[in-house]
Amino acid sequence: MADIRNEIEKRRTFAIISHPDAGKTTLTEKLLLYGGAIALAGSVKGKKTARHAVSDWMEIEKQRGISVTSSVMQFRYDGSCINILDTPGHQDFSEDTYRTLMAADSAVMVIDAAKGVEPQTRKLFKVCLLRDIPIFTFINKMDRDARSPYDLLDEIEYELGIKTYPMNWPIGSGKEFQGVYDREKREILAFRAVDELANGQHEVPVIEADLSDPGLSDLIGQSHYETLCDDVELLDGAGYEFDMDAVRHGRLSPVFFGSALTNFGVEPFLKEFLRLTPPPLPREADVGAIDPFRPDFSAFVFKIQANMNRAHRDRIAFMRICSGRFEKGMEVYHVQGGKKIKLAQPQQLMAQEREIIDEAYAGDIIGVFDPGIFSIGDTICTGAEKFQFGGIPTFAPEHFNRVYQVDTMKRKQFVKGMSQIAQEGAIQIFQEYKTGMEEIIVGVVGVLQFDVLKFRLEHEYNVDIRLEALPYEHIRWIENKDIDLDHLSGTSDMKKIRDLKGNPLLLFVNSWSVGMTLDRNEGLVLSEFGRN
Ligand code: G4P
Repeated sequence: MADIRNEIEKRRTFAIISHPDAGKTTLTEKLLLYGGAIALAGSVKGKKTARHAVSDWMEIEKQRGISVTSSVMQFRYDGSCINILDTPGHQDFSEDTYRTLMAADSAVMVIDAAKGVEPQTRKLFKVCLLRDIPIFTFINKMDRDARSPYDLLDEIEYELGIKTYPMNWPIGSGKEFQGVYDREKREILAFRAVDELANGQHEVPVIEADLSDPGLSDLIGQSHYETLCDDVELLDGAGYEFDMDAVRHGRLSPVFFGSALTNFGVEPFLKEFLRLTPPPLPREADVGAIDPFRPDFSAFVFKIQANMNRAHRDRIAFMRICSGRFEKGMEVYHVQGGKKIKLAQPQQLMAQEREIIDEAYAGDIIGVFDPGIFSIGDTICTGAEKFQFGGIPTFAPEHFNRVYQVDTMKRKQFVKGMSQIAQEGAIQIFQEYKTGMEEIIVGVVGVLQFDVLKFRLEHEYNVDIRLEALPYEHIRWIENKDIDLDHLSGTSDMKKIRDLKGNPLLLFVNSWSVGMTLDRNEGLVLSEFGRN
């Protein structure tokens, strides 16, 4: 028992979120280096060479040279066992990116210092807010010309609605970048551009910095010294107080400035992050909160991925362990399926390698072979008490296509393929509100998923489809139980549809129409997230 508690307390499970190109891959690589999980920088996904190394599962990825899928990387550092949940970085990201955040206990938001908050960061951030998880900010690329740090913090606070607490403060940027001032330790981490690391060891000169000592100006230059003194005075006097409770509930984000590419500020960030971020916390289920330290194993499926290995045509269900200890060969209860099962081939993804594992603990992610029984959000547990975790919301798709089957003789394969791909959570299927199965509308979070759908139906199910783009961009679930859709008065561009469970939904071309429809129908409650 003491052993289980000890192991679980070491776990730190987080996702890194960013807009493409902000430096997520580079930061992940450097973090893995500290854990000794990879030997050389560049081996996670070298941008143009082997971008798809981790998830080399589909031609489409190869053709486009991008990573569509996400993976999990585990490493140990300084007594902690760290799970990084990687999220697809491309613009055309899918719902998987959102779901991955449901499995994380905290998030690291990487922001490009020259660009600030970008659209994708904003979207992902909304999902973090949904769960109140701690959010840490790494403002990257300080070795390049950056925007004013005050502007960047203001933007985060204003655009994302979270307070910020700079843990360190940059001294200049770009060619003038001198390093960062650690506000707590009151020392300067001096910047020296270092590209390569040997065995994860890296020495950064640290200067004890008593700001009242004008001698500092010899080191960082007179004007930098003066600016730093003013900045620190202002931050200490007018900035927010550091409040651990606010950090733990995602209301205050500790901010770190650095440069992932030159490995500057990464290790201090990692150390502080591990100190401030929580081990696995209780998760809500239908019987109340499930304590991670209870001995009975429990987990939920947050992602299903087909064709991880093209040679085997397999399907893997990724589970987040929420309590206890998992052992290979263990018999578990699949709540939604109502059956006892053995989880086959439990594995963990370590950088590029898949490794069969013998045990895992609350906080860890395991991938198990899925013969087609799991759906997103399913609960797996052991012990006398059977329960279900809260489930994973369905995230609003932003692109819609009508799907036509080219050869109508292959109806069976078509239905099978569509429903399996939907079960994996790659697409969402809707129907016209009034007509039958003939009219099928597919919604996706990223447009690339349409290509994935067409490609997979063709190659795996031998079915050709034709897609016709629809103009809708906004979907809303109707929360009112007793709604009479026939009498709902919407805008002329609004479309009434239903999902496969029969729930009514509305499609809109723009957000103005959403507002207008709400105005016209008193008491109507619309939601951006659907319940599974
Ligand atoms: P992403 O996963 O968030 O999409 O970003 P990624 O790490 O791939 O980084 C995007 C680009 O930004 C890469 O350059 C990377 O080298 C660069 N970069 C990341 N961190 C820093 C940093 O701290 N400073 C500077 N100056 N650049 C940084 P690229 O030219 O697109 O790719 P590559 O050809 O260099 O691999």
